[in-house]
Amino acid sequence: MTSYNIGVLSGDGIGPEVISEALKTLAAVADLEGFQYELVEYPYNSEHYLKTKELVPDRVIDEWRTLDAILLGAIGHPDVEPGLVERSVILGLRFGLDLYINLRPIKLYSEHLCPLKNKTPEDIDFIVVRENTEGLYSQIGGHLKKNTPDEVALVNGVYTWKGCERAARYAFELASKRPRRGDAKPTVTLVDKANAIRPHDIWTRAFAHVAEDFPEVKTDHAYVDACCMWMIKNPEWFDVIVTTNLFGDIITDLGAMLQGGMGIAASGNIHPGQTSMFEPIHGSAPKYAGKNVACPLGAISAVGMMLDFLGETAAAERVDGTVGDLLRSGEVPSVDARSGISTSAMGSMVVDRIRKA
Ligand code: IPM
Ligand code: MG
Repeated sequence: MTSYNIGVLSGDGIGPEVISEALKTLAAVADLEGFQYELVEYPYNSEHYLKTKELVPDRVIDEWRTLDAILLGAIGHPDVEPGLVERSVILGLRFGLDLYINLRPIKLYSEHLCPLKNKTPEDIDFIVVRENTEGLYSQIGGHLKKNTPDEVALVNGVYTWKGCERAARYAFELASKRPRRGDAKPTVTLVDKANAIRPHDIWTRAFAHVAEDFPEVKTDHAYVDACCMWMIKNPEWFDVIVTTNLFGDIITDLGAMLQGGMGIAASGNIHPGQTSMFEPIHGSAPKYAGKNVACPLGAISAVGMMLDFLGETAAAERVDGTVGDLLRSGEVPSVDARSGISTSAMGSMVVDRIRKA
């Protein structure tokens, strides 16, 4: 029987609550599909930092490389300097394991969740390939004369040919194998800001270079500001989007709202063939922490993405299919903290449906 080693970082705020439901789901599908796994839990979060002043040590990053996959809840705490633990844990994973793709599906499961008028699940079904190791997240920069009237703050946007090329290639490969909607051609849209930020033209060229290898895939382009407009006006135009780290961060929060809210959006931080990390895209939501109100569907869908990555395709389809069926059933009025369904009850609804199917 196949067995997987899965690292778990429940994280801060609502992280542990949603991860607990995600693990319930994992247990249910493992049972049905007949695979095994071992969980390896890691304590790195903001409370751990406040207690011990310990961030993620380098040897732990080496240990993570030996796992099959990692599941992360959320990081962020009001009592810790913004970004400190996020950089250590989230960016530590992304950069440390070279997880160069951040894959973020934008899929509307049921019309009642969508804030747009007259848009249906057929109209909102695209996927964002966010470059995940470069751009304005490079951590290259700093302050000069900090806290004086002469302060200078600098940050470098780093775009390498290798980074752009491999993100573009992933996007084109994904487009050529994604299920088609009607007779629409597979399409990859490059989203950048190469008009104002001229070095973004490295993306233009890497994209065109990769496109030559995929004659069956249509190419498109949108500047990021226009992309935001089209995502609201004509989301049905998008199939696969490839974009920079920061733009991918921003447009996928917008995308999450098209799906019904942050509570449903999931992501995979992927290095094909190597240990990869899966997480809901929402944050730690401190105001909802410990209240058993957060929606666990994003974390549950992250488990689905993890199973797909591990090659457990049938198990992945069970998770995604069940989330879809549950949302279409009308039993879940919304995918936010005001749904009236507790975190644990929603997790149980998913597990019950998985067992009955
Ligand atoms: C995300 C988050 C992170 C990011 C933060 C917490 C560092 O917003 O995963 O989208 O900016 O990538
Ligand atoms: Mg974000």
